[in-house]
Amino acid sequence: MKKLKVGVLASGNGSNLQAILDQSLAGKIDVEVVVVVSDVEDARALNRARTAAVPAVYVPPGKFRTKLEPEIEKQYAEILLTNGVEVVVLAGFMRILHDDFLNAFPDRVVNIHPSLLPAFPGLDVQKKAIDGGVKWSGATVHFVNAGVDSGPIILQAVVPVLDDDTPETLAARILVEEHRIYPEALQLIAHKRIRIDGRRVIADRALIEGEQW
Ligand code: GRF
Repeated sequence: MKKLKVGVLASGNGSNLQAILDQSLAGKIDVEVVVVVSDVEDARALNRARTAAVPAVYVPPGKFRTKLEPEIEKQYAEILLTNGVEVVVLAGFMRILHDDFLNAFPDRVVNIHPSLLPAFPGLDVQKKAIDGGVKWSGATVHFVNAGVDSGPIILQAVVPVLDDDTPETLAARILVEEHRIYPEALQLIAHKRIRIDGRRVIADRALIEGEQW
């Protein structure tokens, strides 16, 4: 099968990138990471890409804190398109993307978020989950739209919130699930087993549950 070409945008540690690289290089998902782009020069994600012999590009974000300058956002899209990227994978990318970028990849930008959306969008969500008193939290892979963490949900995984959790212990428990469901979601997309119907994403889960087609 022809592999799905993905480009990863990451600002930090890149453990989700690593999970995708590992599954990809082991031949467990039909996905090839063709480029990694970061807005942070010393992001560990860039080193992880280089170690895996994947082109790693740092593009300074410009003067804004939570978004890219419009001209720079165009550069991001160009780099991805030049590398033949079919699906853009946000993996801890800390900037909001706008319509021009999203329209270059219609229904082809995905993100992972460490809560059970639509609960707790935005930042510091493990603390918000603990302070909010919820007993369960988790991870969500979703398509990206112009809002913040508000696009159609592809996959979710649930973890308990324990009485003695700190944001760090909860984050670590959620990350284990992130590393499982992000590659799974990409495999579903690679095999075209996903259909968007309004807010709903209909996924043929048999693929990731190991059944025969
Ligand atoms: C993850 O918790 C992800 O859900 C959020 O940012 C974090 C990135 O972690 N969007 P990493 O850089 O993949 O390790």
